[in-house]
Amino acid sequence: MASDLEKAISTIGVIGGGQMGSGIAQLAATAGFSVLLHDSDAAALGRAEGIISASLRRLASKGHISQAVPDEAMKRLKFASSIQELRSADLIIEAIVESEAIKKKIFVELDKILKPSAILASNTSSISITRLASATSRSSQVIGMHFMNPPPIMKLIEIVRGADTSDEVFATIKSLSERMGKIVICSQDYPGFIVNRILMPMINEAFYTLYTGVATKEDIDTGMKLGTNHPMGPLELADFIGLDVCLSILRVLHDGLGDVKYSPCPLLVQYVDAGRLGRKRGIGVYSYQKGSSAAKVKARSSL
Ligand code: NAI
Repeated sequence: MASDLEKAISTIGVIGGGQMGSGIAQLAATAGFSVLLHDSDAAALGRAEGIISASLRRLASKGHISQAVPDEAMKRLKFASSIQELRSADLIIEAIVESEAIKKKIFVELDKILKPSAILASNTSSISITRLASATSRSSQVIGMHFMNPPPIMKLIEIVRGADTSDEVFATIKSLSERMGKIVICSQDYPGFIVNRILMPMINEAFYTLYTGVATKEDIDTGMKLGTNHPMGPLELADFIGLDVCLSILRVLHDGLGDVKYSPCPLLVQYVDAGRLGRKRGIGVYSYQKGSSAAKVKARSSL
């Protein structure tokens, strides 16, 4: 049964309209919530609207959702160019760039404009929820809600409890995630949580395998797909996640756990320096320009 706190959540504010934020906004609107999506970049907000509308139509045409859902969900979704427009939200899900300093700045701002009862969730892949919470005056109402990519499709949400997250807020977010059709796992607040603590060292090792000339990128990915039954190879998956996101997570693991085994491979660093960020930029380990073989790969799962 839904708690009073959960029943009070009718409007969800999503911050960041990139790969994750647009998918989270789509999922929340499909689940019946009013959604306010904000991005500081007007072009990103415009792109998000197109991506969400196309994704809903695609899901309806495949029979995954009923024909009426795309129009109903789009009506529940508002695109906000100013963060102030999110002040009425009952729950915020933040999905901006993976930088502790930038996330903290947004949390401080949100803490000032939101009503006292509002919950602040971060979709961070690795950053400490406890430290984000300590930037606010409501640390018991701050929680990690780590969606997988793409959020409308992937079944898992990893919920991260900060040092001060209350039992009531945890139970509310768990139940709300289940209402969105997701399976929940719970992690304590240590760098990388569960999924990325295990996944990122594997991706990093795949980069080292490529960097030291052990094998080609194709053979590394085929080896892991066919040899260990992974749906995507680690390099293909890194491109799908975003190489900048992978690098940020590895740096959090390296700094937070202090072990050289998490030190990012120089090849990964160089690709990011060169702007080869993966599928979202059309080039990463593979090229996704029209006509290239990787462009034909259909990515379906990720962290
Ligand atoms: P992205 O680069 O696709 O999107 C980030 C968006 O945030 C951009 O549209 C940018 O304009 C916006 N933004 C940046 N600073 C902002 C600010 N101060 N105010 C408002 N908007 C701002 O990144 P992506 O991949 O969506 O990642 C977002 C978060 O989700 C990160 O914390 C990442 O670690 C996490 N995540 C990423 C996954 C992935 O597979 N890419 C999976 C799970 C979590």
